[in-house]
Amino acid sequence: MKLVVANHKMNLDIDDIHEYLRKLKEVKNKVVILPTDIYLPYFINENYTVGIQDIYCKDFGSYTGEVSPYQAKKLGVKYAMIGHSERRRYFDEENDFIHKKVKAAVKNGLTVLLCVGEREHERDNVFDILKKQLSVIDETENIIVSYEPVWSIGNGHIPSNDEIKKVVKFIKSCYNVKVLYGGSVNEHNIATLNEINELDGFLIGSAALDPDRLLKILEVTD
Ligand code: PGA
Repeated sequence: MKLVVANHKMNLDIDDIHEYLRKLKEVKNKVVILPTDIYLPYFINENYTVGIQDIYCKDFGSYTGEVSPYQAKKLGVKYAMIGHSERRRYFDEENDFIHKKVKAAVKNGLTVLLCVGEREHERDNVFDILKKQLSVIDETENIIVSYEPVWSIGNGHIPSNDEIKKVVKFIKSCYNVKVLYGGSVNEHNIATLNEINELDGFLIGSAALDPDRLLKILEVTD
């Protein structure tokens, strides 16, 4: 059984969330939901493992708008995603800052979902890019890496299984970690992607916004 992580990003309103919870009531599969922060409490104590889409690097303080790993852990959050390409791109997050966040999350007992991946124009140097992004890992315990080629997120273009395999093997040769794949995973391509034995799971964005689509995906990965 592979791990499935559903990244809601900044989507769904409160009515959608109630419908989502209702439809996924019976899910027993290994699924981690990353809702928008304000909906976190709705998913805690339900049958899901809950993660946060981003986290700050301090436990408390005057950091308006941020959520700390201490606060998240105390609420019942188990996973913290860090370094998503949208954080890197729209919020200028770089490896030094990401490193601080990873350290703070691990210190507070959260499992880190560290997102790495090359942009379209970096495809020829993918291993160099990944090496730099992976260098924020000090200890591999409590780290899961999610390989998300930026050129594949949200647009239906996915690498071949062989290309993904090569990257997963590379990451695992550098660090003893579990590796997920993310980028345009959906109910139509999941069966093919699920054939990659080296993969430990999937990070899913748009297809996980619809509970029916997510359930179809979970049937395959179970
Ligand atoms: P996508 O998003 O599945 O919509 O491509 C994945 C992600 O950005 O986590």
